[in-house]
Amino acid sequence: MLMDDLRDIYHAELQELRSIEAMLVGMLPKMAAVAKHRPLRELFETHLEETRGQLKRLDHLIAVRRLDATEHVDQTMQAILREAERAIGLVRDPYLRDAGLISSARRTEYYELAAYHTCVDFARVLELHDDARLLQELLRQQARSISNLDLVAEVAVYPEANALEVITI
Ligand SMILES: [Fe+2]
Repeated sequence: MLMDDLRDIYHAELQELRSIEAMLVGMLPKMAAVAKHRPLRELFETHLEETRGQLKRLDHLIAVRRLDATEHVDQTMQAILREAERAIGLVRDPYLRDAGLISSARRTEYYELAAYHTCVDFARVLELHDDARLLQELLRQQARSISNLDLVAEVAVYPEANALEVITI
């Protein structure tokens, strides 16, 4: 569909955001399954539940606007996740692999954050107040996910990954 005004672009962004969340619902169980550090595994599991909730709320926004939920597939997220799957297979030590998982998870989270930020801005400019409120809430949730990931990386995963590297040299 060609886009002629900001509302059209907003709709496409919403549909892309929806596809991002749907892809993550498929990917997070795989990441949780290979994560060796318990806090990281639990973080992926919690985030999966959150992501399911975000997908549901985006579906609601899309339904209210009478859009096709599957019209747009976000190809950038597809590429990020393809790369994440490849990275999982490249690291032999399962504990060291967790450091790579964090790298992949961080890419997805920051990309999502950018998409939410854009949608919040568009909804505000278009004076779609209910949309803006809901999207702002999801944006805050995204930011919290990044902080939680940072914490698990710094406290549980990176120090051990670094020690593993020293041992294998
Ligand atoms: Fe999300």
